[in-house]
Amino acid sequence: MLVLGIESSCDETGVALYHTERGLLAHALHSQVAMHAEYGGVVPELASRDHIRRVLPLTRQVLKEAGCNLPDIEGIAYTEGPGLAGALLVGASIAAALAFALKVPTVGVHHLEGHLLAPLLEDNPPEFPFIALLVSGGHSQLMEVTGIGQYATLGDTLDDAAGEAFDKTAKLLGLGYPGGPALSKLAQHGTPGRFTLPRPMLKSGDLNFSFSGLKTAVLTMVRQQTLDGKLDEQTRADICLAFQDAIVEVLTKKSVAALRQTGLSRLVVAGGVGANKQLREGLSHAAAKKKFEVFYPKLEFCTDNGAMIAFAGAMRLRHEGRRTMNFPIKPRWDLETLAAPS
Ligand code: KG4
Ligand code: ZN
Repeated sequence: MLVLGIESSCDETGVALYHTERGLLAHALHSQVAMHAEYGGVVPELASRDHIRRVLPLTRQVLKEAGCNLPDIEGIAYTEGPGLAGALLVGASIAAALAFALKVPTVGVHHLEGHLLAPLLEDNPPEFPFIALLVSGGHSQLMEVTGIGQYATLGDTLDDAAGEAFDKTAKLLGLGYPGGPALSKLAQHGTPGRFTLPRPMLKSGDLNFSFSGLKTAVLTMVRQQTLDGKLDEQTRADICLAFQDAIVEVLTKKSVAALRQTGLSRLVVAGGVGANKQLREGLSHAAAKKKFEVFYPKLEFCTDNGAMIAFAGAMRLRHEGRRTMNFPIKPRWDLETLAAPS
């Protein structure tokens, strides 16, 4: 079955073609980062309008790359939620219109299911069951994954998500948007050990996270280090490193605790923060020491993309494909409420 996947939940338009026997045939992405940068964050209305401009040209592009034509498409998957309502509606309505014209079924995909199944697109995919560390702009969760649609939350964030903490801290340090990549780039020039920040919830005895206090600790540090209204460049880099060290240590230790608690030996890292080099190094180091396996998607499939939606949709389309003109969206949607494909 040839499935077209459309991702439009936030600020990237992703389109991909996945074939259930031949694998991923093509994928294309348009990032709106430059457009939103001057506002310091995503402007929902601009995001929706840009998705409208991009989806069809990207669809033509992947069809051309895969050597396929529109009538070859046998099913369409789109991101149903969670995400920005207007942005989701663009993907959903284009999916419904194409499906109506092509007389094929559609399926709405949970964005986070897309993220956590993305490592299954790799040549050496993890087997079920595994622990997933899902760290994106909107989520920081540890999940026990026993199969497709079988997700139990082991830990969640009590306030800011890991990516959100990166973004807010970067903003506070006067770095660009999105903050995660900018902050981690500057941290490379940081002096190890000059500053130490708290490790929130490390000793909480559960698998939950809390990152908003870390941002406040950075704010206090910035105020203390600002002289004559200026924060020197080396100090800024040193604070970035201290912040990244704290987040990486908490995410790594809680992931190890989740593996220990469940007795599982495979960890899957998904979501935008999974692209962080220091997090990858920390987890790989822990994996070698504690004897577990760690799986990551390719860097380009850590952040939002169409390939993960085409893949997750393909896993569900045979069972759940709709042939109606409805195109529901769910801006808020709990991953645990998903069921396995029947
Ligand atoms: O998964 P994603 O693309 O979108 C959501 O579903 O939220 O994740 C975006 C988040 C942003 O907060 C961004 O700052 C963060 O992932 N991010 C990073 C890195 N690359 C992206 N955070 C830390 N280090 C990175 N290299
Ligand atoms: Zn995402």
